[in-house]
Amino acid sequence: MIDPNIATDLILHLLKRITDYDFTHYSLPVLQRRIDAFIKKHSLTGYSDLFVKLLEGDEGLAQKLIQSLTITYSMFFRDPEYFERLHFSVIPKISVHAKIKVWSLGCATGEEMYSLACLFKINQVLERTQLIGTDINEVALERARQGSYALERLDELEHQFKVMKLDRRYSLIDAIDVTDQSFSFNQKMRKQCQFTKHNIVSGGSLGLMHLVSCRNLLIYLHRDEQLRIIQDLLIPSVAPGGYLLLGSAESIDLEFELSNMKKVANGVNIYQIPQ
Ligand SMILES: C[S@@+](CC[C@H](N)C(=O)[O-])C[C@H]1O[C@@H](n2cnc3c(N)ncnc32)[C@H](O)[C@@H]1O
Repeated sequence: MIDPNIATDLILHLLKRITDYDFTHYSLPVLQRRIDAFIKKHSLTGYSDLFVKLLEGDEGLAQKLIQSLTITYSMFFRDPEYFERLHFSVIPKISVHAKIKVWSLGCATGEEMYSLACLFKINQVLERTQLIGTDINEVALERARQGSYALERLDELEHQFKVMKLDRRYSLIDAIDVTDQSFSFNQKMRKQCQFTKHNIVSGGSLGLMHLVSCRNLLIYLHRDEQLRIIQDLLIPSVAPGGYLLLGSAESIDLEFELSNMKKVANGVNIYQIPQ
């Protein structure tokens, strides 16, 4: 039987050749768990079977595999303590700019972007905020652009919003439209949110931003790659005095890269770039 690490490596290189998606920088255990689940779901006999089907040019299977490897799980106001800190400490500071620029990398199906947009809205600065959400998964991006979600998820949105210790007068009622089966963010919200394809591994900066959020994406990459991206892409994309958000499991406090950055509060990985 072929060694699973070698098999994974072969599959990833083949996938890269067929589709141009490069997962070779991703953490192996995570990928292998996803590939194992994929093999089971598609009734394949094992890594060799998957490899042969990809080699035969099964483009449909390759696209499905990409969907499985890019984990698009997200939630509204995920880790609400981040949004609380943004509301109380960050948005008031960056609101001094005439035009506020925000970049969410690995935005998945848009939940983080719209949560941010809600926060800028209740701070009454949404009209002058430009939010850019990027991801490599085009299916996820298309769903994000639509800004429409199953009605059950309205509970999640409202629950997470309530968890934050904000003034109870704030409401999201005029940010969304509700129908029988779904709810969607309205035109005023969607107008400020732009979604576009960008690969964090190979893509460049989109210019200086006042807020850059890259949460729950770096965790899937090798440590060296994480640090390279933070140093070469994320930090240089933050304007002086601006902020960088990393996920709760993506702290790099002890690394030299962030040594001259100020952490905004304990318990949340929000860093301010020096002026
Ligand atoms: C788990 S989701 C995180 C969503 C959101 N940031 C959150 O915290 O809820 C990770 C997202 O990163 C995207 N992703 C994975 N690799 C990427 C890459 N190389 N460049 C850009 N996005 C990537 C996936 O497609 C997925 O949508």
